[in-house]
Amino acid sequence: MSPLKMTISLFICTTCARWSTRPHPSFTVHSFSPATHSLPSARRQSSTSLPSAINGTPLSKKEAGREKRKKFIGMAKAVDRGQYTHTYNPLKEGGLFVAKSGVPRQIEEGKLFTVLGIESSCDDTGAAILRSDGTILGESLASQHSIHQPWGGVVPSLAKSAHEDNIDNVIQTALSNANMKIEEVDAIGVTVGPGLEICLRVGCERAKDLALRYNKPFVGIHHLEAHILMARISPEKYNNTSIPSDKSMSRAMEFPFLALLVSGGHCQIMKAHGIGQYSIIGGTLDDSLGEAFDKTARLLGLPVGGGGGPAIEKLARTGDPTSIALPIPLQKRKDCDFSYAGLKTAVRLASEKLCIERDVESAEQLSENDKANIAASFQHTAFRHLEIRLNRAMVIVSKEDERISTLAVVGGVAANNELRSRLEKLCLDRNDPWKLCVPPPRLCTDQGAMSAWAAVERLLVGSSDSAEGQEVFARYPFVDMDSST
Ligand code: KG4
Ligand code: ZN
Repeated sequence: MSPLKMTISLFICTTCARWSTRPHPSFTVHSFSPATHSLPSARRQSSTSLPSAINGTPLSKKEAGREKRKKFIGMAKAVDRGQYTHTYNPLKEGGLFVAKSGVPRQIEEGKLFTVLGIESSCDDTGAAILRSDGTILGESLASQHSIHQPWGGVVPSLAKSAHEDNIDNVIQTALSNANMKIEEVDAIGVTVGPGLEICLRVGCERAKDLALRYNKPFVGIHHLEAHILMARISPEKYNNTSIPSDKSMSRAMEFPFLALLVSGGHCQIMKAHGIGQYSIIGGTLDDSLGEAFDKTARLLGLPVGGGGGPAIEKLARTGDPTSIALPIPLQKRKDCDFSYAGLKTAVRLASEKLCIERDVESAEQLSENDKANIAASFQHTAFRHLEIRLNRAMVIVSKEDERISTLAVVGGVAANNELRSRLEKLCLDRNDPWKLCVPPPRLCTDQGAMSAWAAVERLLVGSSDSAEGQEVFARYPFVDMDSST
């Protein structure tokens, strides 16, 4: 879920979009590190200037503006101020992967190997031991829902302390559940970005220690890639630890495919060409879908610890999705971008109107039936917007590349059953039906198995990082394959 929004005396810096003591109207509580506060002016200049041509074709001012914006869509509240100094690109010069800390020897021998995965990018501490055929051998997840619930959202400093308190126990429990010792694990993967920097650091430092102490290959995981790759695990492997090991390492789907990532921090449609190779087809201009769920839940006074999505989904089941007319966002824009900020405002205005009609002071005081109608109408409109943009993206990519006919839906909001069935219908109702791959709900939200599996995928293509000096990145954009060609 997205971090808590509240008014305190920390403000976003207008130079590098980090947090400082200067005023800004609405912002997220966040740690502020003066050490990372300045950027070379050359970098600032280049990232804010408009591209004048693409492949030699001159661009109009409007087109240039759009091309520039494309680079930054999908990053919630992204402001292009040249702060994205770190991009994720495991492919080095010449399009080759580099195994900086080696790969498990079993890969060369054609045998299976095991990975310890660690995730601490936001509000849950997760660890898992995964076998390289996708079988989860042992897992552990320390939820922070009750810690953040009273605050109405994630408080980074509390999240960091809880990660520190839980990390060792979570790793140990995952190992015990797998009946293994750390020495027996063949590699270690840990989320290094994007996410809350102070939280990422807790998992990353522990993973670095273990990798160096036990001399294991180390992989710094991109959180969004980890969500996406979860959809490649063969469905029979998701829940079953007793099935025999499978050396074929078959996947639910092969590259290239289309991916919809809907989480608390992100809302993007991407073409997935291969490990570390993505191009962005559409992204949010403001809020992510998960954020819209969280804000609507907060408006209605529902539980928001761990995200408001599950509470809205549950309430919406008893409501009438047509009871409140809400405008579908971006109707006039025929592209694949999203916008959820206007919908959030429309929900608030509709609730205020209902409050006046019912003579109550706040949406929290409305009847269960009224709240259910608001939840159902919001969810229906939010998903309709998503269906329209996604359908357009599917039409575009099938024309561009006829090999693409699979849709992966990943991230926390993909746990929503209504969304899953609507997107299944969207895929099947086409003249040329698409295959839909969605991880089971519990593996859509953040947990340790996603870091372990992403590490497996990276190691299998010969890519690993050096634990020594590994940093964490609050922002960590993919290199856009389309704009880099
Ligand atoms: O992927 P995730 O666990 O964390 C991020 O990487 O952001 O996603 C969390 C988001 C939250 O906004 C939460 O409200 C939403 O996923 N979510 C849901 C559901 N379960 C989690 N949204 C709608 N319906 C759900 N069942
Ligand atoms: Zn996530």
